[in-house]
Amino acid sequence: MSKKATLEVNGKKVEFPVVTGTEKEVAIDIKTLRSATGGIITLDSGFKNTGACESAITFLDGEKGILRYRGYSIEELAEKAHFLEVVYLLIFGDLPTQEQLDKFDSDIKENCIVDDDVKKILDAFPRSAHPMGVLSSLTSALTAFYPSSVDITSEEDMYNSIVHILGKFPVLVAWTMRKKQGLPLDYGDEELGYVENVMKMMFHLPNKKYVQNQVLVEALDKLLILHAEHEQNCSTSTVRIVGSSRAGLFASLASGISALWGPLHGGANQAVLEMLEAIKADGGDTKKYMAKAKDKNDPFRLMGFGHRVYKNFDPRAKIIKVAADEVLEDLGIEDPVLDIAKGLEQEALKDPYFVERKLYPNVDFYSGVIYRALGLPVEMFTVMFALGRLPGWIAQWKEMRLNKEPIGRPRQLYTGKTYREFVKIKKRGE
Ligand code: SDX
Repeated sequence: MSKKATLEVNGKKVEFPVVTGTEKEVAIDIKTLRSATGGIITLDSGFKNTGACESAITFLDGEKGILRYRGYSIEELAEKAHFLEVVYLLIFGDLPTQEQLDKFDSDIKENCIVDDDVKKILDAFPRSAHPMGVLSSLTSALTAFYPSSVDITSEEDMYNSIVHILGKFPVLVAWTMRKKQGLPLDYGDEELGYVENVMKMMFHLPNKKYVQNQVLVEALDKLLILHAEHEQNCSTSTVRIVGSSRAGLFASLASGISALWGPLHGGANQAVLEMLEAIKADGGDTKKYMAKAKDKNDPFRLMGFGHRVYKNFDPRAKIIKVAADEVLEDLGIEDPVLDIAKGLEQEALKDPYFVERKLYPNVDFYSGVIYRALGLPVEMFTVMFALGRLPGWIAQWKEMRLNKEPIGRPRQLYTGKTYREFVKIKKRGE
């Protein structure tokens, strides 16, 4: 691979360094473009061809359907690791020893208490509020209660902020759901593991002894691993750019939650279930909805299909599809929407429109089947995506800070009005 790229513009040749990553990906470093060409910039709507940073956290090969966290394959991590191990791996770079994991777990538990005044903010929301909006607000509000999390100047500050949010976020997730259900808010049981306690905080009833369902705990643990990180996706890029202004960790995470909420991103898992339910209510007529998805005049899209990077199967979707079958079988649940999803997938894989555009099921296509089997209301699906993605956001934010990345501030190509003089209001419209 040559070390230089040459651009010829306005009769002038300009050279740029070519950089190669550890997985042989190649990029042209254009940091000198504007100064070398007298102000010329690139234009790349949606950043489809633009790298925002160098990162050592996640490797994605969209053509081959490869996903690795810190070098470990998603398949192995989903099968052999637990979520808290993967959290540690993503944030600190290596799988933890038992001693490191035990200390991490203990530090997180020590910092799970949320100031009771946060409940006053929660109380102010109408029960109809979407939990993603509530969660983003409560996460941002944590800054007010823990102001030291803003100005992170040392490794110790960074670690403390990280264990604070890892301890408090699952509590906010559980409280957000239970508030809508009119159930009491608590902290579960510190004897339980991280994911087990999430389940208990969310689902225990005050008048009944809570019995863990290990099948569901393991299914959720796997789902959280699969959602934990995905390099420079929309919400992670948001967390990085907000953090690049030196805004605090909690404020940066709150912005990531808002970005994830959108139906083209994490909100797709809710949209998939609503779509599948609509198809079921419509007599299961998948062909009609396939036609709608292909009709340019119809805004309907096959939610859970397609991906900016994966032009092959999303490896996470493959794993979740198998897990969905296993969970439903273990629980003896017949969920017709799973059959509808599989029918849509089979049809799309044979349909030229989807095949030509390389549209395959993504991480959101089957996850809702499991979330529903867990007993989650559909509005909580994207909240669970946020719970899974929290370590990825933290790891990327930490890397951005440690790499001392400059404040993110893209350029633009102006296409508006050229100079015109001010006109007094009496003369306007003449
Ligand atoms: C996530 O980036 C990440 O890593 C995200 C994520 C993560 O872990 O963080 O993986 C999580 O967000 C997964 C994606 C969830 N979103 C959805 O499932 C929503 C449905 N999918 C689409 O809206 C779409 O596929 C996107 C947003 C996911 C990707 O859009 P792109 O890359 O901008 O592609 P595009 O919109 O330019 O589509 C290319 C073509 C277009 O047709 P033409 O104009 O070429 O004729 O494919 C068509 C699109 O109309 N197309 C679809 C489609 N997705 C793309 N047509 C019907 N149904 C779809 N789902």
